[in-house]
Parts: sequence; C-alpha cells; structure tokens
Amino acid sequence: MTTRHAIETSGLTKSYGDHEVLRGVDLTVPAGTVYALLGSNGAGKTTAVRILSTLLKADGGAATVNGHDVASQADEVRESISLTGQFAAVDEVLTGRENLVLVAELRHLKEPGRIADELLAQFALTEAAGQRAATYSGGMRRRLDIAMSLIGHPPVLFLDEPTTGLDPQSRNEVWRTVRQLAGQGTTVLLTTQYLEEAEQLADRIGILHEGRIIVEGTLAELKQIFPPATVEYVEKQPSLEDIFLAIVHDGATTQAAPTEPATTDSAATTEGAQR
Ligand SMILES: Nc1ncnc2c1ncn2[C@@H]1O[C@H](COP(=O)(O)OP(=O)(O)OP(=O)(O)O)[C@@H](O)[C@H]1O
Ligand SMILES: [Mg+2]
Repeated sequence: MTTRHAIETSGLTKSYGDHEVLRGVDLTVPAGTVYALLGSNGAGKTTAVRILSTLLKADGGAATVNGHDVASQADEVRESISLTGQFAAVDEVLTGRENLVLVAELRHLKEPGRIADELLAQFALTEAAGQRAATYSGGMRRRLDIAMSLIGHPPVLFLDEPTTGLDPQSRNEVWRTVRQLAGQGTTVLLTTQYLEEAEQLADRIGILHEGRIIVEGTLAELKQIFPPATVEYVEKQPSLEDIFLAIVHDGATTQAAPTEPATTDSAATTEGAQR
C-alpha cells in the first residue's frame, strides 16, 4: 500500500525499563518535505529515529515509512531509507573515496567508482578524495557521512543532529545539501537542538517533549500559537527559540526583552534598528 505521506506514526511508545521515553508519538511527514524534530537532550529524538529506521522496535503504536510498516516490512523500509546517525559512521582508515566505493559495493550498485566520484564532486571533496577520512575536518567528515547515505538515492533520509559540533561554515554547507536534496524530492526527517536549523530548513517542525509531540506545524503556525509580545513602542516577533523554551518550560515565558528601552524614538525607527 502506498500513502502520500513518506513517514507516519501513530501512538508510538518506547520505554527503557520503567523509563517511558516515547509515550505516544504521532507525526506525519508528507513526501518531499523536510521535517525537523526538536527536543532537549534525552527527549527521545534518537529513539524515534532508530525506530523509524528499523534499528529499534517500538513497544506500541504503528509507523510506516515510504508506505511500509517498520515492524512487519523492515526490509522494504531499509531499502527506502538511509540514516546518518548522531555520530559519523565513516571508516577513518579508508580514504573518502574508498568509503563511498565500499558503500556502493555493499548496495550492489554498478560502477561504484563513478558513483563515488560524482558524490565527491557534489560534496566538494574531490581534492581530499585520496586522503584518509581520519585527516578530515569535522565538516568534511559530516559531508562524507551524508554523501555515503545518499548512495542509491533513498527517497527518505533520516539525519540525526546533522550539524552538531560543526562550525558555522560547515553547518551552512550541510544546510545547502539538505535544501538541495529536498529540492530534488527527497523526504528528510532531521533532529536538531539548533532552533535556527529548524527555522532554516524545515517545512514543518515538531517539538518532542515528555514523550509526545506537543506542538507541530510550520514556523508561521508555531508563531501564531505564540502571539508576538507587544510592548509600549516595539513589537517583536518571537523566535522559534522563544516558542520552544516557553512551551518546554511549562509556560515560564522567556520572551526576549526589547533590545532598547522604550524612548521617544518612533516605533519604525526602533524596529529598523533591531534588524
Ligand atoms: N539503550 C538504552 N538503554 C537505556 N536508556 C536509554 C537507551 N537509549 C536511550 N536511553 C534513554 O532514553 C532517553 C532518550 O534518549 P535519546 O537518545 O532518544 O534522546 P535524544 O533526544 O536523542 O537526546 P540527545 O539530544 O542527547 O541526542 C534518554 O533518557 C536516554 O538516557
Ligand atoms: Mg540523540
């Protein structure tokens, strides 16, 4: 059976011992879109991604990926996805090119060398192709990791904290790659703790908290749930970070104060100065 959603879960639960990590996760990711799963450390983001990528069995609920049930059709799910884990999976002893060739061979693809060379070019790694991955910077390693996960053109990509630990320039490179993939129709579910990353990349954003997706929507929708603060002279839109912190801290509002005290400046001048 095919669905128009690339990823769908309903009532997904998972506990470790008596620690209930997922308490009924419902999420829907339309095909060809980018979904960002936000949550604090330990919220269960990696747990959810591991269930969706068949590495872990849920205790309850249901999930389909690319129309296949993760529990009963794990092989079909695995053929439809790739996972870039929270910690890079490159083999440091091998060169960048060897890593790519190895994955292409494991996937039984024809012309693994050509596939590797194309990806090296796409990810600006051609010059470093012959160097051991151990010598790569964090950003290069992350790019190689993502390149490896694209071999075979999986329609659904899971990226678990793809830019953690990267400098801003490398982060931008990863963001560009994700946008490019989404532009080509790949469905991307990424987890992140960087709220700006969600703002930059995601069509829809879900906040995972205490085992459930407590808020879900486009950035514009999330901003509507949380109306902008109005002060005497300045109106400031809440950032996604404001929304996230306010929700997660049970209503303990963390709206940023205006950067300038209200003065005789006109609202327009003050607003302009804030940008
Ligand atoms: N194999 C395991 N055995 C026991 N507890 C686990 C196991 N894996 C994860 N947990 C616990 O489950 C909770 C959720 O972990 P998970 O890794 O899914 O969180 P996360 O949202 O990805 O966090 P982070 O942002 O730190 O990556 C944590 O409290 C973690 O300690
Ligand atoms: Mg994690």
